[in-house]
Amino acid sequence: MKRCQSPLLLVAACLLSALPAWADLALATSKNCMSCHNIDKKVVGPAYKDVAAKYRGDKAAPARLATKVMQGGGGVWGPVPMPSNPQVTEVEARKLVAWVMAQ
Ligand code: HEC
Repeated sequence: MKRCQSPLLLVAACLLSALPAWADLALATSKNCMSCHNIDKKVVGPAYKDVAAKYRGDKAAPARLATKVMQGGGGVWGPVPMPSNPQVTEVEARKLVAWVMAQ
């Protein structure tokens, strides 16, 4: 956050770049993701920080994870699978995964 303090011109850029992060948390909340996930602790599903760390550097991960978010699946984090999320479109799934990977 230090770079967000000055110079003044950067403040506007920082606010703009922070907005999508809030928007995506709101999207994740509205799509019910946050009832099973938390950003930094395991709930029913893994913490998003752990997911981001696991796939950092894996270029194929975002597409694979977006499909998994829509269709559900298991076998990676424990015995509990993620159910499918038919309320999520492909565009939303990609957006959510990009946000998860940035945690
Ligand atoms: C009913 C609970 C539940 C809901 C709702 C849910 N998840 Fe999950 N999620 C899980 C579980 C359980 C896992 C671990 C699955 C596994 O071990 O492969 C998981 C795994 C994941 C993973 C990592 C998958 C992998 O293969 O490593 C991502 C990314 C993810 N969820 C995103 C989302 C998003 C985005 C939403 C909202 C659209 C969502 N989840 C909604 C329970 C849930």
